[in-house]
Amino acid sequence: MTDPNVLVGHSTSDDAGVYRISRDLSLVQTVDFFTPVVDDPYDFGRIAAANALSDVYAMGGVPITALNIVAFPVAELGTEILARILEGGAAVATEAGVVILGGHTIKDDEPKYGMAVTGTIRNERIVRNGGARPGDLLLLSKPVGTGILTTARKRDLIDDDALAPAIVQMARLNDRASRAMLEHGVHAATDVTGYGLIGHAGEMARASGVALAIDANRVPLFEGVLDLIAQGAVPGGTRDNLADHASFTQYAETVGEAQRIALSDAQTSGGLLIAIAADGAQRVLDALADLGTVAVIGEVLDGPSGAIVVR
Ligand code: CO
Ligand code: CO
Repeated sequence: MTDPNVLVGHSTSDDAGVYRISRDLSLVQTVDFFTPVVDDPYDFGRIAAANALSDVYAMGGVPITALNIVAFPVAELGTEILARILEGGAAVATEAGVVILGGHTIKDDEPKYGMAVTGTIRNERIVRNGGARPGDLLLLSKPVGTGILTTARKRDLIDDDALAPAIVQMARLNDRASRAMLEHGVHAATDVTGYGLIGHAGEMARASGVALAIDANRVPLFEGVLDLIAQGAVPGGTRDNLADHASFTQYAETVGEAQRIALSDAQTSGGLLIAIAADGAQRVLDALADLGTVAVIGEVLDGPSGAIVVR
């Protein structure tokens, strides 16, 4: 569809659609839902909500309303579990200052939950995944490895305590990272989700007409991720990512197989990947220092367009 008010459509693999409603203001709209990634229904609700809201934050928008999307086997699981999922989602929406206006539920064999989210954004402050400039630094606001850890938990390779740090991060909003990048001159951003760090970095590189260098040893990983990969706790989506990423990624010999898998791990509700000039990057790091998870993980290179160098 073409319409002059569509400022960001689906052609650039960006995080959300942006539709201009006045000279100053646009709507940012996105939808995301999935099957449970953790056992606890309340945590699942929180994670699904934080994940759905994240695409608005990645565009530099402010989410204002949401609609719940639910598929649930009510006869088999009962309404109490469903209520806990919705309570988790509502808690995170409240934290974000977002009102849940309603939603829709259908019966289904497998539970699914998520949200359609609407936000607003000033037209001159839209943050696309294109716009990264050679010399920019790359920041990442959360550690990588949620796909590995949730898979390891399902296979009983780790206990709830070992999964807990990943749940904390998956349920955490990207609101502060979004505000900090806007304040300090972000050039491009996206959030790291199912396509993995390398995949979303590749989309940024293509949309920006640049290459990106990722310093493998500077990418923060959750504790135990490389060991668990060695034990085979690798989800199918991550393996698919790795195969797909090979077509645009060059790895230094020093980057081992487990590290390559980790960098392609399919994330749920991951951090923001931010391209920003060096002085701005330092100010973002300072502003978010108390989170303890934000790191410089690489830099933007002058082409070839869409290429990722892992070194
Ligand atoms: Co996204
Ligand atoms: Co999304």
